[in-house]
Amino acid sequence: MKEDVKSQKLKFEKDFSSVCRFLKKQLNSDINITYNEFLWSWLCVNTRCIYFEPFKSINCDVSENIAIAPMLDFLNHNFDVKMKGEFNRVTQCYEITTFTPWKKGQQVFINYGPHDNFKLLLDYGFTIPNNPFNYILLDDEFFKLNNEVENFVSKKLNLLMKNGFYGDYALHASQISFRLLTALRLHFLRPINDISSQETQHLITKWQNTISGKYEIVSYENEIEVYEWIDSVCKELIKKCDLMLEKVNNTNSIPSGSLENLKLLWNESKNILTSVIILIQDSKNM
Ligand SMILES: C[S@@+](CC[C@H](N)C(=O)[O-])C[C@H]1O[C@@H](n2cnc3c(N)ncnc32)[C@H](O)[C@@H]1O
Repeated sequence: MKEDVKSQKLKFEKDFSSVCRFLKKQLNSDINITYNEFLWSWLCVNTRCIYFEPFKSINCDVSENIAIAPMLDFLNHNFDVKMKGEFNRVTQCYEITTFTPWKKGQQVFINYGPHDNFKLLLDYGFTIPNNPFNYILLDDEFFKLNNEVENFVSKKLNLLMKNGFYGDYALHASQISFRLLTALRLHFLRPINDISSQETQHLITKWQNTISGKYEIVSYENEIEVYEWIDSVCKELIKKCDLMLEKVNNTNSIPSGSLENLKLLWNESKNILTSVIILIQDSKNM
């Protein structure tokens, strides 16, 4: 998340200097906008805008085509809301349709997208308890594991790349991602004799068959190593969560709202890790 905050800040700084340049050079104006004024307006736009396809094709990156839609931007987000929002060319109105029933007097929510709490905090400044889109990424842990300068390691990383399984190794509370399982199944393949030996090639084919769905696992031993690794990483990360929670609980330099968000993030990360450990335990007992 630190990395994402860094690039968010960079984007802001870039926008600020573009606007200052534009005001000065293009408009030749004396209007000065302060850093804090621009920050306030930037956050207003970025927390309230929608992506909008222009009617006429203009020379602009589509992802940059944002618009503010009055009224629509009053609506708050909830993850379980089913709705659609689109511009109706016939009525010339931006229409929001809800497929979730609401009672008179209830707050009507819309859905900003399948965002986890890190994304919600980064882009909108809030978190939602029990957000089912929360996940933990194990990319760092996986690539640390593959750090050895050994021939077979780089071959394995190449194989991951070639097969479209390089990175994005997520853990959800009720599921270990297939991407992570696939990457780990390959990591724990033991080369027999040398890399190009027939036996090793046979093992790699077996691994590829778990991707195509022909086989569920490479071997029983391989599967045990995969799950043992996930289990031990989860236990390590729970310790980290506890440490961070202790830090957060003992700090008085963070505003209370932000503190609550941080506590929720670390507690929910811990919940995901605990659920995965239980998941592994349950599958062992079956
Ligand atoms: C598009 S605006 C929604 C309208 C806003 N609540 C208002 O009063 O004008 C997005 C902002 O609303 C707040 N927000 C939206 N959904 C929320 C939620 N479920 N819980 C807390 N804050 C929320 C966040 O501050 C977010 O940046």
